[in-house]
Amino acid sequence: SFLGVDLGTSSVKLLLLNKAGSVLRTVSKEYPVYYPKVGWAEQSPMDWWNAVREGIQEILTEPQNILSKVEGIGLSGQMHGLVLLDKDNHVLMPALLWCDQRTQKECEELSERLGDKLSEYTGNKALTGFTAPKVLWVRKNRPEIYEQIEHVLLPKDYIRWKLTGEYATDTSDASGTLFFDVAHRCWSSEMLDILGLSEENLPTCYESYEITGSVTEQAAQETGLHSGTIVVGGGGDQASGAVGTGVVTAGTVSVALGTSGVVFACQENYSVDSENHLHSFCHANGKWHVMGVMLSAASCLKWWVEEVCQFDDAGYAVLLQEAATVPAGSEGLLFLPYLMGERTPYSNPNARGTFIGLSMTHGRGHMTRAILEGVGFGLRDSLEIIREQHIPIYEVRLSGGGAKSVLWRQILADILALPIHVVNSAEGPAFGAAILAAVGVGAFSDMEEACSVMIKAMEQTEPIAANLEKYNSLYGVYRQLYSALQDSFE
Ligand code: XUL
Repeated sequence: SFLGVDLGTSSVKLLLLNKAGSVLRTVSKEYPVYYPKVGWAEQSPMDWWNAVREGIQEILTEPQNILSKVEGIGLSGQMHGLVLLDKDNHVLMPALLWCDQRTQKECEELSERLGDKLSEYTGNKALTGFTAPKVLWVRKNRPEIYEQIEHVLLPKDYIRWKLTGEYATDTSDASGTLFFDVAHRCWSSEMLDILGLSEENLPTCYESYEITGSVTEQAAQETGLHSGTIVVGGGGDQASGAVGTGVVTAGTVSVALGTSGVVFACQENYSVDSENHLHSFCHANGKWHVMGVMLSAASCLKWWVEEVCQFDDAGYAVLLQEAATVPAGSEGLLFLPYLMGERTPYSNPNARGTFIGLSMTHGRGHMTRAILEGVGFGLRDSLEIIREQHIPIYEVRLSGGGAKSVLWRQILADILALPIHVVNSAEGPAFGAAILAAVGVGAFSDMEEACSVMIKAMEQTEPIAANLEKYNSLYGVYRQLYSALQDSFE
């Protein structure tokens, strides 16, 4: 079997997969996020390791016979986080996470100083979540720590170091640092100069399916794994998730409807859109991908159900049932889903959510439906930029918590004007990480073969012709609302 480990933001998810694509076991272990100031978000790498160690022990306990058969391990994880080690491999400070917003100033400085060069060097623009501005923040605000930096790692690669003793990463995760040259799949010497780092401070970069090392004696004792078990490169959670839903060739797009919403398309060749609205990153299959990220997607529904309507888990079914009785378009009610600001396409941490068009005829069902539709329009914003790149798209592979709702699947099919497929691996990146391990140890000749064997179709939703036009014209209205309201979002 193959072990996939996804080091998420709220928990680590572990999954054992066999060569036929059946999930043998899953385990998850939670750890806290610390918010020491407004907009800051940190975690303790020791918490991660303890959770991974315990998770592996637990997944290997039963059935006993699986233990001898773990052939390879794939690591996936939250991207962009900054982990700093000193010369004795001590963690220098808590890890700064992808959702930490403290680096607005550093991002502005990088953009002003480098202009278009930033995109030329890295394929991306400076966003507060990315790693490079975090390094600049440490240099300015924690100089005593900056001076002691020996190793810079991404979150999942700290786990790799604990398992194998190797300082290594993969091209998909490295892409989110803003000090990686995505076009050439290597560290950017220009960006390293700006950060005052050298390649010696950085992990060796592999492709996601390549072998990066094997489990040490000590890690074997701590986890119950066999020493010598192979660990492959793995990937950032988005690239691993896309592998897990089979998005490894052009034509299919992965939409992950989790806390955030991600639209992800595989590309044969590297490219950047004219405004660099999309992230241009290396994919875990040796090619490239572009993606748009909405900061609030399924979390808009969670906010509505749990915070506003004050329902528990059972309330989702009640509210979604009400929304299903409301006609497409929510009788003129629109919702902007920017509850946490927005990344794609606006890169504006100050954008905010709003209902537009409320009237006496609207009730709770309309508001629930407008939220589902507003998230759909937000996803379409990213999809349209991908379409402008002339990337062919025939179907969406939907994953994440939101994929469970039949109503939401239909709304997305109608707004995106594409068939929506849900596959057996819709639970996430750990599945893709296990596939990467299977390819890395040679169980399959390539990613496409592995995906065609291990991934199976479950549900398919076709667009309803009568709704396409309705949503097309409403999308036109939705597009105008952000610019109309922009000045009030300060
Ligand atoms: C990707 C991104 C998130 C994080 C956390 O750009 O910010 O997907 O990786 O899940």
